Amino acid sequence: MADMAAKNADAPLFLVEDVHFSYEGAPALAGATLSVERGERVALLGANGSGKSTLLKMLDGLLFPDRGRIGFMGQELSEATLRLDSFSREFRRRVGFVFQNADAQLFSPTVRDEVAFGPLHLGLPDDEVERRVEDTIHILGLGHLKERAPYHLSGGEKKRVALASVLAINPDVLLFDEPTAGLDPKTSSFLVSLAGDLHEAGKTIITATQDLSIVGDIADRALVMGEDHRLAGEGPPAAVLADRELLLRANLIHDHPHRHGGVEHYHPHSHVEGHEHGH
Ligand SMILES: Nc1ncnc2c1ncn2[C@@H]1O[C@H](COP(=O)(O)OP(=O)(O)O)[C@@H](O)[C@H]1O
Ligand SMILES: [Mg+2]
Repeated sequence: MADMAAKNADAPLFLVEDVHFSYEGAPALAGATLSVERGERVALLGANGSGKSTLLKMLDGLLFPDRGRIGFMGQELSEATLRLDSFSREFRRRVGFVFQNADAQLFSPTVRDEVAFGPLHLGLPDDEVERRVEDTIHILGLGHLKERAPYHLSGGEKKRVALASVLAINPDVLLFDEPTAGLDPKTSSFLVSLAGDLHEAGKTIITATQDLSIVGDIADRALVMGEDHRLAGEGPPAAVLADRELLLRANLIHDHPHRHGGVEHYHPHSHVEGHEHGH
């Protein structure tokens, strides 16, 4: 794969071409096309059910297109290529996925074991495993929870353990699915700022979110998934957030009636940005 990386230096990190996918007949992706370059910071926006999580799972090689293809550094990401040990080992080392639901990611008896699992699987020497575990636990402020059972922690603590278990592998690419969903504001802003640090350290960050308030802080480019399960638009976060028509169409904001001074009228607003009516 080192050879492959050199050979395909010009290929995008991810190339998603006309990807279709259905769950037992229910469409989740219906012709999604996009690409992500190395070192980019991308937000994947879209209403509930538009296909964001499905797309992230495909970028992590957990699901495969019914039609269309996904390329990773110029190589097709498919069941067949992931069956090749050399490709799959390298792919798993390079790409890390932080699930929306931390419970789905945690299975070890202690926080320490959870964080050590990935590095141990990479076959790293014991002292290197130990170093990574200690560093990652420190970065995520989990020192006091090392011997605790992940299963019994709070939502925010579980999220930090899940993130630690991924960061301990030191992937180049991080896929975050709704990283701030259900978290308190302090943990949310900690995660957002950590994602910024990781990007500055050279990592590619792809974040699926419905939380429009974090987009400007977690991405330099925003992709909008429409309810028709394809890309509805993209651009710099500020431009996408200012495109009310696009956000309305993608059902990320909605019109509903307000009464001001006895006059009922409609105008668009977002429930995540808060309500501001300048009149
Ligand atoms: N495991 C599943 N089984 C059946 N349908 C699913 C499953 N996961 C997602 N879907 C459906 O696929 C569509 C896209 O879902 P998803 O990718 O989770 O969207 P998002 O992350 O944008 O909310 C939705 O209609 C959803 O109900
Ligand atoms: Mg989702």
